[in-house]
Amino acid sequence: MTWLDAWLAQTAAARHDAGLHRTLRPRGEADRVVDLASNDYLGLARDPRVVAAGADALRAWGAGSTGSRLVTGSTRLHAELEEALAAFTGSEAALVFSSGYTANLGAVTALTGRGALVVSDVAAHASLVDAARLSRARVEVARCADPAAVDLVLAAREEPRALVVVDGVDSVDGGIAPLAELHAVCRERDAVLLVDDAHGLGVRGPGGSGTLAEAGLAGAPDVVLTTTLSKSLGAQGGVVLAGSAVVEHLVDTARPFIFDTGLAPAAAGAALAALGIVRAEPERVAALHAHAASVAASARAAAPGLEVPTPTAAMVPVVLGDPEPAVAAAAGCAEHGLRAGCFRPPSVPAGTSRLRLTARADLTPDDLALVDQVLHKVLGPIVAGR
Ligand SMILES: Cc1ncc(COP(=O)(O)O)c(C=O)c1O
Repeated sequence: MTWLDAWLAQTAAARHDAGLHRTLRPRGEADRVVDLASNDYLGLARDPRVVAAGADALRAWGAGSTGSRLVTGSTRLHAELEEALAAFTGSEAALVFSSGYTANLGAVTALTGRGALVVSDVAAHASLVDAARLSRARVEVARCADPAAVDLVLAAREEPRALVVVDGVDSVDGGIAPLAELHAVCRERDAVLLVDDAHGLGVRGPGGSGTLAEAGLAGAPDVVLTTTLSKSLGAQGGVVLAGSAVVEHLVDTARPFIFDTGLAPAAAGAALAALGIVRAEPERVAALHAHAASVAASARAAAPGLEVPTPTAAMVPVVLGDPEPAVAAAAGCAEHGLRAGCFRPPSVPAGTSRLRLTARADLTPDDLALVDQVLHKVLGPIVAGR
């Protein structure tokens, strides 16, 4: 017996005791559930036009991209996708990565490194946290919701280069970062602002063009935008959007770009088609917001006493406290045909385990009626028993 067996058993027991054991639940392709757990905010993952574009790309280019982007992994589709993403977000240039996670790793590590400072929001997504650690820059954690706190950290620094990293839309509760104010602080202190808009693209800003466009900062020279292609675009992959010089720098130096196989052509083709649909059908963005408001109203009515904030993006958080009631609520929803996200530590702070319900543009009136019924059935008793 190696140390590994004993250690795995011990850490697994600790997770079980804390209610933090996790189980994979593979979906069936024809599951008859209303899905409020996915990130397919605009309902494009299974849109026939998106699927057809992915299949066309698969047939034309093959199953994989066959190499890293700098060798054989860049197809014409990747270039077209980059052009379209840059145009949609008002950015000068774009560089597609194999995921949003690697896009964040690439942007942060290549732009900072030893001798630089990364100011990371307290609620920054794990990929930004990991990127900051990997960068070997000095890292300060600050509350970006309070730009004055960021200003203090920037003012006190000795490093000439500083990068402030924040999610445009908080991935857990949908809070919107005060980007205009943060940008003003960054500009004053000669820092660059990096905004991860994974949950803002297709959701916030004119026509879903994102939180930076909403803040009037699209294309600003001292701003870097990262996002995923896997949420409102329903595909897979990630992208860094910035000035051409930044993108050139990333091509030459970003290890998660250089040493990673290029995004699969099917994903690039699907994302490109999805982007075209977002541009042509902005009513999807409005439908998403209306549905989020409806889900929040149902949760509020089902669980009086629980504070369910007015949604600002796709997610509707229903905070239940300990992991156990959150797990029980998600299981209860599943029994009644509603798939609900369940967030526990370390995804959220201790004591704030929750259901995270995500609205989609393609929910039908029948879907919303089922959501209302199930939330009443499941949340009512849980809240009454508190
Ligand atoms: C805020 C944020 N950034 C980055 C990512 C990573 O994107 P991807 O899943 O494409 O790696 C996610 C989600 O998964 C996210 O929520």
